Amino acid sequence: MKLFLDSADTKEIASLAATGLVDGVTTNPSLAAKSGKSLFDALRAICDSVKGSVSAEVTATETDAMIAEGKKLAKIADNITVKVPLTWDGLKACRALASDGLKVNVTLCFSPTQALLAAKCGAKFISPFIGRLDDAGHDGMALIREIRHIYDNYGYSTEILAASIRHVTHVRDAALARADVATMPPAIFRQLVYHPLTDKGLAAFLEDWKKSGQTIL
Ligand code: E4P
Repeated sequence: MKLFLDSADTKEIASLAATGLVDGVTTNPSLAAKSGKSLFDALRAICDSVKGSVSAEVTATETDAMIAEGKKLAKIADNITVKVPLTWDGLKACRALASDGLKVNVTLCFSPTQALLAAKCGAKFISPFIGRLDDAGHDGMALIREIRHIYDNYGYSTEILAASIRHVTHVRDAALARADVATMPPAIFRQLVYHPLTDKGLAAFLEDWKKSGQTIL
């Protein structure tokens, strides 16, 4: 499964990219607005740090304007994926941009039928928002499972990008549900490595080794 950062914080992204484990980045207008940089500067910096897909979201709401914004965003770097919302206008923009050879991420997906439409329009990624569904009292992970089932039934190659991830368990469950990608805030990415028994075990190994008086180098 690919791991993406859901952030427009260029320093944080560059720092985590150094792990070699960041496969891509997703941004949205809210994240971009709080990055402290102009949208284009932030996206350029992110694309310099991460060679995988970097989603940049349009803010227009009508098809023609979405297409124009998407084409402008795509010129920033070869790895830009244009992100459009799951509306009729967004789906038409998706089809047009995909026909032009651009990669499109259809975002704000909350139902399996929305995901079906995005796949039919040639989306590279569909972004189901699992955390926001959980927040509203629904089962976000069930949506991932249903989309997986539908895409496999018909052989759609659109990648399922589990979004709106709130905790490490969401990442685990998205992997079990065969999401292609999980995008998460940097804080959750950092937590993926942590287990208290790893720390405890390492401390005990090092303590025993110190007592032996030996060194490796
Ligand atoms: C994904 O592309 C979105 O940017 C994101 O996951 C939204 O998450 P939120 O519900 O935490 O805002």
